[in-house]
Amino acid sequence: MCGIVGYVGSSRVAPVLLEGLRRLEYRGYDSAGVAVHVDGKIEIVRAAGKLDQLEHALEARPMNGSVGIGHTRWATHGRPSEQNAHPLLAGDVAVVHNGIIENHVELKRQLTNSGVEFSSDTDTEIVAHLINRAHTEGVSLMAAVRQALTQVRGAYALAIVSRREPDCIVIAKQSSPLVIGVGDGEMLCASDIPALLPHTRRVIFLDDGEIAQLTATEARIETLDGKPVERAAKTVDWSPVAAEKSGFKHFMLKEIFEQPRAVEDTLRGRVSLETGDVVDSELGLDGEVARQIDRVVFLACGTSYHAALCGRYWVEQLAKVPAHTELASETRYRDPVFTSRDLVIAISQSGETLDTWAAVKTAKEHGAHVLAVCNVLDSAIPRMSHGALYTHAGPEIGVASTKCFTTQLVALLLLAIWLGRRRDTLNSHRAATLLQALVEIPHAMRITLERKDAVHAAARRWMHAEHMLFLGRGLGYPIALEGALKLKEISYAHAEGYAAGEMKHGPIALIDENMPVVVVMPRDAHFEKTLSNVQEVRAREGQVIGIISDGDQEAAAVAQMTLSVPNVADAVLPLVTIVPLQLLAYYIADLKGTDVDQPRNLAKTVTVE
Ligand code: F6R
Repeated sequence: MCGIVGYVGSSRVAPVLLEGLRRLEYRGYDSAGVAVHVDGKIEIVRAAGKLDQLEHALEARPMNGSVGIGHTRWATHGRPSEQNAHPLLAGDVAVVHNGIIENHVELKRQLTNSGVEFSSDTDTEIVAHLINRAHTEGVSLMAAVRQALTQVRGAYALAIVSRREPDCIVIAKQSSPLVIGVGDGEMLCASDIPALLPHTRRVIFLDDGEIAQLTATEARIETLDGKPVERAAKTVDWSPVAAEKSGFKHFMLKEIFEQPRAVEDTLRGRVSLETGDVVDSELGLDGEVARQIDRVVFLACGTSYHAALCGRYWVEQLAKVPAHTELASETRYRDPVFTSRDLVIAISQSGETLDTWAAVKTAKEHGAHVLAVCNVLDSAIPRMSHGALYTHAGPEIGVASTKCFTTQLVALLLLAIWLGRRRDTLNSHRAATLLQALVEIPHAMRITLERKDAVHAAARRWMHAEHMLFLGRGLGYPIALEGALKLKEISYAHAEGYAAGEMKHGPIALIDENMPVVVVMPRDAHFEKTLSNVQEVRAREGQVIGIISDGDQEAAAVAQMTLSVPNVADAVLPLVTIVPLQLLAYYIADLKGTDVDQPRNLAKTVTVE
């Protein structure tokens, strides 16, 4: 969960690395550093804290070279400090690393016994020493890295520079992401595409077990056992400005407002309203699989898990297949049962979440057919799966997921409709009605977003609440969970999501006049029941903030405060009811002055277990 970046070219490298790190800061933000070739030496500047600290340090110590590597850290081994920040230097080599070296204890003992002294508490420094030891007279950096990696077990994306080879960077990958950017007379590498975009949109994804030498004009890729790899560059369609704030105060706010566009992009080319169907070629699945399966299992973590809960609802309702949702972080530690008649749908915006990846691997080993729903092209989870259905949200930089969540919902509803059509449980007329409702969602989202001032007023009213309960039924339940997660992760208020019907089984004990209760209560099939739960809250003097349908007087009469959303079909309600909850969390966090885009202790991609 760190970000790495490297550059070989003719520009002054320090600003290039800093800009790249800014675009990767979402991956980790407790310390950062760069290593640059300058006049036959490797100079290193590191700083604890956020990237601004590194920027100040670089202002105080400008560097002129045009080859270098950089890193932004999310601490795993060793506390966040300048000493533990990357790059780590050992003799002639400097290393940046994203991942975890699993056999670090054993390797450190061996190195210490042979006289090596360590200057940090990191597992990465071990790799630096192993490479430096192998990089003897006549052994190239590439060969030394290869040799060192034979001893290393674990996950890594590495970028390495050597004082003795001033015109190149060597990179290697196992389980952590790494992508090469092919520029014009310059070559880059990074943990994620946004860092490359100011320079190029031509990218080459490195595979696990591969190593590459980057010079200004060439990326020489080989497998770790020395076989050359020929891989053409792909052009990504993300624009450089997609990873900028464009006048918004935070990335998260920008991304909330981008949702109508993101939904349109995710729908584009996938819907046929004439035939009432989803376009086959766009789904990453074979019709035969749809007919053969007798179960759908969703695997995901966090926000993506909340999307899975909606997916389950849709798959059961529209395709009439038994469906289950699994927290991927739990699945891998059970002895889960998967069969060849399972369709596993792995949902991950980053495509890198280790728990989800490992659960997918297990499912695949048991013969299940796996489809990834993902926002990042060619990332680890799509690669581990049989097919991929990409959401087209564009880069999501804010750590709290918003537009990736809503585009996951779109993808899952498309999938459920497609399954229903293939399994003859959904006729074309009903499918066309659902698809039409989906196509109209961007408009309904825009209307909801225009009402941001009402949400801001609610945020001002409730910003000091230390606890908040979120309730919902049916498709409103995952939305309640997601609303609570958004609030807790960025505002640090304690928030809990509950199925409204569960309240009387325990949480009702929490209700008193100081407990704000957000109730997702649009006019859907569950409305009457949810209304009864609201009455129960009111009877105990709880404060109700209702997410209601436009014009619903009955709902408005029971809630102290309401935020209304346009009247859309029941099946697509989550796509609008989530919007005021995202905004509520955002405005409360902003009013409290927390770090909205980079909340404490979190990172955007979770590549640790
Ligand atoms: C919350 C959030 C996380 C992620 C979770 C899974 O806003 O973003 O809960 O949803 O870490 O990440 P992905 O979807 O990348 O697998």
